[in-house]
Amino acid sequence: MEHLHTQDLQADGISLPRLGLGTFRMQGETCRTAVESALELGYRHLDTAEMYGNEEAIGAAIAASGVARKDLHVTTKVWNENLAPDAIRRAFDASLKKLRLDQVDLYLVHWPAPKMNLPAMFEALMKLKEAGRTRAIGVANFNIALLKTVVEDIGAPIACNQVEYHVMLAQTRLRQYLTAKSIPLVAYCPLAQGRVASDPDLAAIGRKHNATAAQVALKWLLDQDGVAAIPKASRRESQQANLDALKVKLDDADRKAIAALPKDRRCVNPGFAPAWD
Ligand SMILES: NC(=O)c1ccc[n+]([C@@H]2O[C@H](COP(=O)([O-])OP(=O)(O)OC[C@H]3O[C@@H](n4cnc5c(N)ncnc54)[C@H](OP(=O)(O)O)[C@@H]3O)[C@@H](O)[C@H]2O)c1
Repeated sequence: MEHLHTQDLQADGISLPRLGLGTFRMQGETCRTAVESALELGYRHLDTAEMYGNEEAIGAAIAASGVARKDLHVTTKVWNENLAPDAIRRAFDASLKKLRLDQVDLYLVHWPAPKMNLPAMFEALMKLKEAGRTRAIGVANFNIALLKTVVEDIGAPIACNQVEYHVMLAQTRLRQYLTAKSIPLVAYCPLAQGRVASDPDLAAIGRKHNATAAQVALKWLLDQDGVAAIPKASRRESQQANLDALKVKLDDADRKAIAALPKDRRCVNPGFAPAWD
């Protein structure tokens, strides 16, 4: 799996493998089996959240895998009903216990709440980081206005913004802001929840390279500086296919065809004002 490790992103002291396994909507035995399979295949970046209700299954899979802790990146997230400092600490303790870990690699605010005390939230998160209980902190679903407050006013060290990003969603302004601040973007729904697999234009590109439409969509993301992706795949064949996407070589004509796809197909809407990006 050397090719995976050479492609880690560096952010605020952590090394984030650019391809991770998403785990939303997988629970219990299904989740445990899928995570064990992914770890066997060489995945070293797992994405979970307290809201997914699968941290126990993931903890069991990690424990059974025999993968050295230092070789594994684990992200979990605090849900937006738990953003008061005390609630963050309680949620964090519960996540760590379920994951059977002493430390996570990245702890994210999962989703902005309509009313948040951002300075108090980030003080609590930074204390977890200073205590070594999480190696880094970050956010998900934060728009530019929120990011500016966190990064420029509060000065919190943000190791990523995890947002929806794929061949059919541009995220232009948000990407520009993150690039300017050297903050990685972790792309969720990188396969547009599986929709890319049936796109005829992506399939045509794939035929040129002996690859599938999904592999083309994934490699397009992973070719970008500062971008990681966390496709969810419960099937071992899809997990392997997503790893193999790293070997696909897209050319300028492919990128031009991908640029011409619709760019407004959002699957998940965090739904806050002002405009998302
Ligand atoms: N921070 C947030 O608010 C947030 C929001 C949404 C998602 N996420 C994270 O991002 C992860 C990924 O997003 P997602 O699960 O919504 O969507 P996704 O990864 O874009 O798509 C997952 C779907 O694609 C299918 N698939 C996977 N690999 C494939 C392949 N090679 N060929 C064809 N189909 C393939 C999967 O099928 P099978 O499962 O049947 O194999 C599943 O139905 C989540 O699991 C979660 O960890 C975070």
